[in-house]
Amino acid sequence: MSTTSRTDQPATAAPLADQATISAEIAAHAAEYARSGRERIVPLLDYPPYRSSLLRHPTKAPYQVDPEKLERFAPVFGHSDVDPLEADLTIQHRGEPLGERIVVTGRVTDGDGRPVAHQLVEIWQANSAGRYIHQRDRHPAPLDPNFTGMGRCLTDANGYYRFVTIKPGPYPWRNHTNAWRPSHIHFSLFGTAFTQRLITQMYFPGDPLQPLDPIFQSITDPKAREMLIATYDHDLTQPEWCTGYRWDIVLTGSSRTWMEPTE
Ligand SMILES: [Fe+2]
Repeated sequence: MSTTSRTDQPATAAPLADQATISAEIAAHAAEYARSGRERIVPLLDYPPYRSSLLRHPTKAPYQVDPEKLERFAPVFGHSDVDPLEADLTIQHRGEPLGERIVVTGRVTDGDGRPVAHQLVEIWQANSAGRYIHQRDRHPAPLDPNFTGMGRCLTDANGYYRFVTIKPGPYPWRNHTNAWRPSHIHFSLFGTAFTQRLITQMYFPGDPLQPLDPIFQSITDPKAREMLIATYDHDLTQPEWCTGYRWDIVLTGSSRTWMEPTE
């Protein structure tokens, strides 16, 4: 189960704290983590600064199933199902979407640095104004008729994925008064079956909202947070066309990229 919805909106309305209160709670949790001296890249299910985490996480043990038996019934995809054009989110409509055109690319590897080839990578994101096409997104920012905000591709033989898209804007989300999500792109990665799906978020370097965001800060380990931030790469930037970001994903091992809890 994911702890965030597509729009990261809290599950219920409650009296809202201010940013100073939330920031003080974030700092207290960070200090407690530093004092513990233990590495923990999986966030606590109850992370009070992220208010709805208290309401949303599972309260029962996961239902155990035989993965091999389940995979006989689970959907599968073939390479022919994914059109290479689906990796370009700027060509899905009649016109060009508004905003900063970017390329986002990186390599998916396992814990030993081996490429994870031919894996399905999906992304979804807000438009450049910070608006999702989603019925629960009431943020008074414009929808872009030329931008849906979803794309997918398969990693190549060396584990590389590559998307062309628009840099998403920040958006408000009512966790507390004046709560804004830093710009981010949601990522989903599949293994060989849908039952192995992993979900996380990629962030952009230098975003001043990151220290204020209880979703990002719920990952209390600074190194784990750093791994979710893409690197601006001028070699990926194309003259007169787009800027470039690199973001590698490690699926296993002590250097693995943080993923949202699935249990
Ligand atoms: Fe989001």
